[in-house]
Amino acid sequence: MPLVIAMDGPSGSGKSSASKGVARALGLRYLDTGAMYRAMTWWMLRAGVPVEDAEAVAARAGEPVIESGTDPDAPTIAVDGTDVSAPIRTREVTNAVSAVSAVPRVRERLVALQREIIGAGGIVVEGRDIGTVVAPDAPVKIFLTASEEARAARRARDLAADPGATVTVTRAEQARRDRLDSTRAASPLARAEDAHEIDSTELTLDEVIETVVRLAKDAS
Ligand code: DC
Repeated sequence: MPLVIAMDGPSGSGKSSASKGVARALGLRYLDTGAMYRAMTWWMLRAGVPVEDAEAVAARAGEPVIESGTDPDAPTIAVDGTDVSAPIRTREVTNAVSAVSAVPRVRERLVALQREIIGAGGIVVEGRDIGTVVAPDAPVKIFLTASEEARAARRARDLAADPGATVTVTRAEQARRDRLDSTRAASPLARAEDAHEIDSTELTLDEVIETVVRLAKDAS
């Protein structure tokens, strides 16, 4: 089977940087599935859909056209032809995305798109349910973790442009999101039984990338 690397883990564990680095090192494509859930959420907010109302979200989930570019050096995400790379990273979207991604109709639609993109393989895919649901046959599965503190510090750095995003606020918002993402009924964040768990708290980015590259080489 062509190489598919499933990279799951909670927010702030360093999945994005590690996934892009591994894709570059191995000449693979890269897919950020979290960006797709964020793009769906951005569209719902803009359309005025009450995101806490699962039925309202489900009813509109088929409407936005979401397109993901898979170049690890320049990943793109567009909704109805508009690049939404920046607006999907705002706190407004971040705090609404768990509710939208818990809706089964949203997941069905995005998982189908993800499987289409994964296609023949040759890709690193990051998310929450890649090893368990989206690509259960992936030959390499990673579950990336980090201490709660390290994750909150990373997130606060990501949100440095937002004056309200202190480490304390980010930590509380992140804890809420982790709880929602891990306890929802539809494909919650979970480590696949056959996933390699890597704790990135004490590792540099390069060390995480090297570890995954080694696992991928061992598997092929
Ligand atoms: O990785 P991220 O923080 O950008 O993901 C945003 C949200 O999307 C996250 O809170 C949970 C959801 N998500 C999901 O439900 N399934 C995935 N495969 C990826 C993300």
